[in-house]
Parts: sequence; structure tokens; C-alpha cells
Amino acid sequence: MALTGTKKMLEMAYKNGYAIGAFNVNNMEITQGIIAAVAEEKAPLILQVSRGARAYASIGYLKAIINVAVEENPEIPIAIHLDHGDSFETCKQFVDDGFTSVMIDASKQAFDENVRVSREVVEYAHARDVCVEAELGQLGGIEEDVGGVSADDVSKYLTDPDQAVEFVEKTRCDSLAVACGTSHGAFKFKSEPKLAFDVIEEIGRRLPGFPLVMHGSSSVLQEFKDLINNYGGDMPDAMGVPESAIARASKMAICKVNIDTDLRMALTAKIREVFAKEPAEFDPRKYLGPGREAIKDMVKHKLQILGCAGKASECM
Ligand code: G3H
Ligand code: 13P
Ligand code: ZN
Repeated sequence: MALTGTKKMLEMAYKNGYAIGAFNVNNMEITQGIIAAVAEEKAPLILQVSRGARAYASIGYLKAIINVAVEENPEIPIAIHLDHGDSFETCKQFVDDGFTSVMIDASKQAFDENVRVSREVVEYAHARDVCVEAELGQLGGIEEDVGGVSADDVSKYLTDPDQAVEFVEKTRCDSLAVACGTSHGAFKFKSEPKLAFDVIEEIGRRLPGFPLVMHGSSSVLQEFKDLINNYGGDMPDAMGVPESAIARASKMAICKVNIDTDLRMALTAKIREVFAKEPAEFDPRKYLGPGREAIKDMVKHKLQILGCAGKASECM
């Protein structure tokens, strides 16, 4: 059973006005929760693996888990993507390992250097039929290994539409992650959340037919925030991107929406709840199982927000 190419999914998402959910995977339960959701909703899926995930779980285990998912769900298009590749060497490794797309994130480098390394990755990947996401502008964030600017500074680092056109022309990347006011992690805003829809709109207008990517798209759902805070956690100020904003962006040129924090919070919330309510429980299946179920329900809901539920067959 084969993986599906990322490019086809992005093309269909662009053409039909929805976005593909790109969910980060680190272990079996997270992957199974996501897969169960897309199978029930008949949605296309991008599973993404960060360098951190690879270091944690090892590529062999991750790929074996993903292979089972692909084999068991032949009617669901599944792509696998390197999230935030930090160098040509990292991207090369993932291309060589059979990923359907890679991200080169040289957004912290000066423009010319970002172009140079992104172009180098594009040349290597395209020769092997793998597509490439690059990034221009800087997101905020507190994620280890991802870096970024502080949440307060987010608006100063939005992607410049003129530069975006030049960058895409010079690199020939297949999709572009843009900075539009989101940031990584659970603490994205200190006051009312605001995205720069004008930036998305202008880049979309200047690059017709070209898919954009939104990172830092978790919504920090109230249900999980409450469970975490009520059962011994400490994230009172967590705030994410409202789902209405995700839905709006998904109808625009944003064709891939990256979600990790909401998965982490769903799993953590349920584990905390079980530990608090059943302190004598020590069977991992009794707390990882509810965590996996919470991920499934949450992802099913996300697929409706993104508009990709029911779109599996057109992306094959
Ligand atoms: O954008 C980053 C993702 O949330 C991956 O995070 O590097 O901790 O796996 P990670
Ligand atoms: P969140 O932290 O908002 O889930 O963003 C994840 C992401 O952008 C992965 O690349
Ligand atoms: Zn990201």
C-alpha cells in the first residue's frame, strides 16, 4: 500500500477551498487517534514528523506505525512530511527515507541564505519526486528546537508579500509557510487573538494557485485547558487561534494547517483526569486509551473546521 503525494492534496485543497490537517506524531497512541478520526471522517491526512519526534521514537518505529495505518486504510490518502527541517542534510535524510514532502525552515536566516538553502533542498527533493515546503517570515514560539520570536513580537515578523513572490520564484518551492500572526505552542496571545488576514489575502492574490501553510494553528481548546488546570496542571494563560479564524484561513490560500499543541493537550488532559480520579490505576492502557480517544474526537472536530472531511477520495 502506498503513501499519497502531498502535492495532490494541496492542489485539491486549493482548488476546492479547504485545508488539509497536518498533525504531528510522536508515538503510537497519537497516530492511532488521528487515523481513527480521518477514517471515520473520510478525510485526507498529512502526518508530520519533527526532528524531535524522530529523536524520541526513532524513524523505524514511526514509519512502521505509519505503514500499518496506510495498509489498514487504503481508502484514505496519507502523506508523510518532515516538519521544520533545519538543514539540507536533515531534509536529504527524510527524502531518502521515503517521506512524501519535507519542510526546509531556514526562516531565521537572512533572505538570500534562506533562498539558497531552500533552493538546494528543492533541487534534491524534486529530482526524487518529493515536494518541498519552505518558510518566509518568523513565527513566535516556545517550542524546543523550533525557536522563533516572542509572542509579543509576532506582528513585526509577518511575511512580506513582495518578498514572498520573489522567494517562491527563486526557490521553486511547492508551498510556503507564512507568518500571519500565529505562533507555536500553547501561549500564542496575551490579549484578543488576531491574525493578519490581509497578509494571507495579499500573498494569495500575488501567487495565484500557490498553496500556503499555516503553522502554529492549535486552538488550545477550553475543554482540555480546564481538565489540565483542574487536575493539577498549570496552564491558566494558555490561548490559541480561534477555530473561526482557522476556518476562515482554510477557505483562503491556506491549504495546510499544522496542529501539534492541541494533540498534546488532549492526551495530557485525559491522562491527568484518570490519574486524579483513579489514583490506584497503573495500567498504561487505562490512561493512554482515554487519551487516544480524546485525540480522535478532537481531530474529527478539526476536520470539520478545516473543511476536509469527506474529501479523501478526491485527494487519492
Ligand atoms: O512546530 C513544532 C512542532 O510542534 C514540533 O515540536 O520539535 O517538540 O517535536 P517538536
Ligand atoms: P501548534 O503548536 O499551534 O500546534 O503548531 C504546530 C506546528 O506548527 C507544527 O509545525
Ligand atoms: Zn510549525
